[in-house]
Amino acid sequence: MARSEVIPHLSGIAARIVGLGAWVPPRRMTNAEVCSRLDTSDEWIRARIGVTTRHVAEPDTATSDMAVEAGLRAMKSAGVDHVDTVLLATATPDHPIPGTAPAVAHGLGLPQVPAFDVIAGCSGFIYCVNVAAGLLHAGICRTVLVVGADVMHRAVDPTDRITAPIFGDGAGAVVLTAGRPGDPGTLGPVAWGSDGARVAPLCIPGGGFRRTGTGSADAEADRFLRMDGKEVFRHAVRRMCEAVRDAAAAAGWAVEDVDRLVVHQANARISATVADTLGVPPERVPSNIGEVGNTSTASIPLLLAHAAGTGDLIPGHRVAVAAFGAGFTWAASTLVWPDDVEALS
Ligand code: UT7
Repeated sequence: MARSEVIPHLSGIAARIVGLGAWVPPRRMTNAEVCSRLDTSDEWIRARIGVTTRHVAEPDTATSDMAVEAGLRAMKSAGVDHVDTVLLATATPDHPIPGTAPAVAHGLGLPQVPAFDVIAGCSGFIYCVNVAAGLLHAGICRTVLVVGADVMHRAVDPTDRITAPIFGDGAGAVVLTAGRPGDPGTLGPVAWGSDGARVAPLCIPGGGFRRTGTGSADAEADRFLRMDGKEVFRHAVRRMCEAVRDAAAAAGWAVEDVDRLVVHQANARISATVADTLGVPPERVPSNIGEVGNTSTASIPLLLAHAAGTGDLIPGHRVAVAAFGAGFTWAASTLVWPDDVEALS
């Protein structure tokens, strides 16, 4: 079976992280609250998923609102009050039409900059960063804000014990400018791919335009995430392992060189299995799923901000990032953590 696409950098420009921001809604939902309406237990959720609490947005808070909060923090971290372009990775847009990124740009006080959404499931943030890298490389943009934001607790059926305990809400963002490949903060080549033969195992069947208006009785109603957990688990491990190996090789690294393996926080057992398969020791694998759950597109920037904030991720660390999500999609890349970026939460 085909692996990922990996194209070496062609010339002397790569995307460089110059700002990092994160935001989660203040309300915490504990396992006890989840258990009060589901046939599950705190022990099962902690043992099988690794989650203790997750943050959930208040009813008047949408994906765009969280994205603005994270974006403001990333821009402050970068020391800029303007960016050329706003890209939003999300699986939970405010509306089917229009895209949500223009509302984010407006909320940031940037009403005229180009802004658009990228939909690539939980891999969306790494996908989006690489779209931005292309814009920077082509000279179309000089400064890009990339945000990953999701209000995933509204995408799951609160009575479904497979999905309801896993997900939480949040947003994370980076400001990117053009840098020189290999310099601290610049992203290495991406290894990424998709497998559209596997839509069904991780899918919201209703609400899109495949069925709306076709007379399908459940087209409107079936708006909650359906997940074949075992199938997703298996492919997530395999694809992220392959992508990390490919991205590391394209950067000229051995996997043993990786100081911090930043894995999409889908399930603590997925991260542990990826690390174990790659031979990366657990102390090199930061985690925040216990406190925030699976935040989909926000997962990678939230984890970077968490690890940098606690001092677990320090300047000079060689970092590999990897994600997997609905589509199926997957992506991995590398960077050396810079000494001039302070994460703001
Ligand atoms: O961001 C990407 C999106 N999602 C993911 O990456 C998630 C990937 N998959 C997973 O994380 C895991 O597959 C789950 C957490 C969803 C499920 O874990 P599992 O170890 O694959 O459980 P399972 O589906 O094999 O179920 C094992 C048992 C079953 O009982 P029996 O048949 O052994 O009696 C389930 O009925 O656990 C039961 N079960 C539960 N028990 C208590 C399933 N969900 C629960 C629950 N509480 N919430």
